[in-house]
Amino acid sequence: MARHLRSLFDLTRDEVEGLVKRAFNLKLLRRKGVFPDHLRNKKIALIFEKPSTRTRASFEVGIVELGGYPLYIDATTTQISRGEPIKDVARVMSRYVDGIVFRTFGQERIEEMCQFSSVPVVNALSDKFHPCQILADLLTIYENFGDLKRKVYYMGDGNNVANSWVAISSRAPVEVVICCPKGFEPDQDVVERALKEGGNVKITNNPLEFIEGAHVIYTDVWVSMGKEGGEEVKKIFEPYRVDERVMEKAKGAIFLHCLPAHRGEEVTEGVIEGERSKVFDQAENRLHTQKAIMIELLS
Ligand code: CP
Ligand code: NVA
Repeated sequence: MARHLRSLFDLTRDEVEGLVKRAFNLKLLRRKGVFPDHLRNKKIALIFEKPSTRTRASFEVGIVELGGYPLYIDATTTQISRGEPIKDVARVMSRYVDGIVFRTFGQERIEEMCQFSSVPVVNALSDKFHPCQILADLLTIYENFGDLKRKVYYMGDGNNVANSWVAISSRAPVEVVICCPKGFEPDQDVVERALKEGGNVKITNNPLEFIEGAHVIYTDVWVSMGKEGGEEVKKIFEPYRVDERVMEKAKGAIFLHCLPAHRGEEVTEGVIEGERSKVFDQAENRLHTQKAIMIELLS
């Protein structure tokens, strides 16, 4: 049976720690010009139904560096765009490739791909989860603080990235606070599962509540891909912008953002370009972490 990464709930605590350490080592090796070829002769399809800068590029480069062959497939150029069922795509692609990296809309499309694929499937972002992002963020925390016992204060929309922070609180020693407007909380089923499985997570609608002792201030776009949001939504989110005042409240904290960022909306130019912003290390870490994930699932 193929092993999949549908969400962070698919991993054990030991596996999460192992992935972060493996990614850290792969980063050190790459700096020395050493490229272990764990994916030699493996073909991996990247099927994307939404735009991407980082995820696409870091998976493609990672696969090449591990000795494999990436096939980037823009879903709009495939029969998926004409309604071909994911369960058929899964079985067809399984005959050609050794792994599938899938970026899509509903999480049920990830589930369907996993159910019908005989090769490992990695969720490269759905409306509900973005597991690869949060694993890379853990590497960034590990590099900056030397361990994962840290407090992450997420301000903004309770979206796929926020849901993934909630999930990881049950799989890593991080403490997570999600601070979001009323009606924009993370999914209830995700919160319940995380709490049931030992998660350390709090949700608040009050800006700055529980910020004391935060090691990471995190945000993401107010309107995710595929979601509607005009000026009215932006008004609702104004009090949740990460600005200099927020960073002042969290003196020892670094700033993280999965990117792309909308300066002047969820974060100010000063914060994202400031000394405590680690967003480009964070983006680089996507590469090392996804290599670790692929080695774990495929080799
Ligand atoms: N953070 C992230 O997933 O970026 P892309 O949408 O550019 O892949
Ligand atoms: N929440 C964002 C993340 C982008 C990487 C989105 O889904 O658009």
